[in-house]
Amino acid sequence: MENEARKKRIFSGIQPSGELTLGSYMGAIKSWIGLQDEYECIYCIVDMHAITVRQVPADLRRRSLNQLAQYIACGLDPQKNIMFIQSHVPQHAELSWILGCYSMFGELSRMTQFKQKSQQHADNITAGLFTYPVLMAADILLYQADLVPVGDDQKQHVELCRNIAQRFNGIYSDTFVLPEAFIPQVGARIMSLSKPTAKMSKSDPDGCVYMMDKPEEILRKFKRAVTDSETAVRYDKENKPGISNLLTIYSAATGKTIAQAEEDFAGQGYGIFKPAVGEAVVELMRPIREEAERLIADKAYLESVYRDGAQRAQHLAQKTLSKVQRKIGFIAR
Ligand code: TRP
Repeated sequence: MENEARKKRIFSGIQPSGELTLGSYMGAIKSWIGLQDEYECIYCIVDMHAITVRQVPADLRRRSLNQLAQYIACGLDPQKNIMFIQSHVPQHAELSWILGCYSMFGELSRMTQFKQKSQQHADNITAGLFTYPVLMAADILLYQADLVPVGDDQKQHVELCRNIAQRFNGIYSDTFVLPEAFIPQVGARIMSLSKPTAKMSKSDPDGCVYMMDKPEEILRKFKRAVTDSETAVRYDKENKPGISNLLTIYSAATGKTIAQAEEDFAGQGYGIFKPAVGEAVVELMRPIREEAERLIADKAYLESVYRDGAQRAQHLAQKTLSKVQRKIGFIAR
């Protein structure tokens, strides 16, 4: 079958919220670069998901474009991959409505993220927040994706997506590929610089290095990084979480092993070690930040990327949507 050569397809949704961090780069994005030859990858900036909580319009607009620019700057190739903005492909909304009619109130009510978010936004629990996972299922199923790289918090949504797909396939015969959550080869798990037992989070400005931070800012954050009361630069996750995290970062930034990194700093104190890690990160991020800045300024280029992406995405999406519409009894346009 022609399928023998068919690459597996990956679909990933990217929230245009907040800023990308060193943690997201070392933990996830870097490993995606290696996927682009082996898989057919589709990256979608999910602005329609973003509005399930209130957004400042100008911020949403800026972040959607910045996110696209930053991913390209990290090395995701818009030629090899399909990169587009969700609201540019109306098939997402169309399929989402249909799938909503095959999703149960009860199963959506059980989604952990809905329960959490509706507590956080108790005065603004919209229907969109509730049906968020249905739109996510539409994202994935439109492209017949095999694999969906997600963090732990999204696994339940992928599971729900499978259930919806299975239900639909059961009623109307095989229509959707059943996707699987995909945890790419674990990148480094980067912890907060100020609280090294917690994951680096974009909502913690002091413990977190942003991809767009300037060199002085990066160095300042590393100089202030929390360590311990010993003096030896030694990896010991239990007892020396701060130093271990810095060694992990240094090793990810330089490509050296942890053992080599320990050797580099044998007999030297934290006062030498911390700025050295900062410098390594500055050098790692410099070309990415500069390229992202260049792309953000080049509106015409970004526009050509997302338009081309939307066109390619729409072609695939429409195939699935037409099939679905025919099966459920809609009259062809
Ligand atoms: N819900 C995902 C998140 O918050 C984003 C997302 C939307 C997504 N649609 C998707 C992820 C489809 C994977 C596949 O991170």
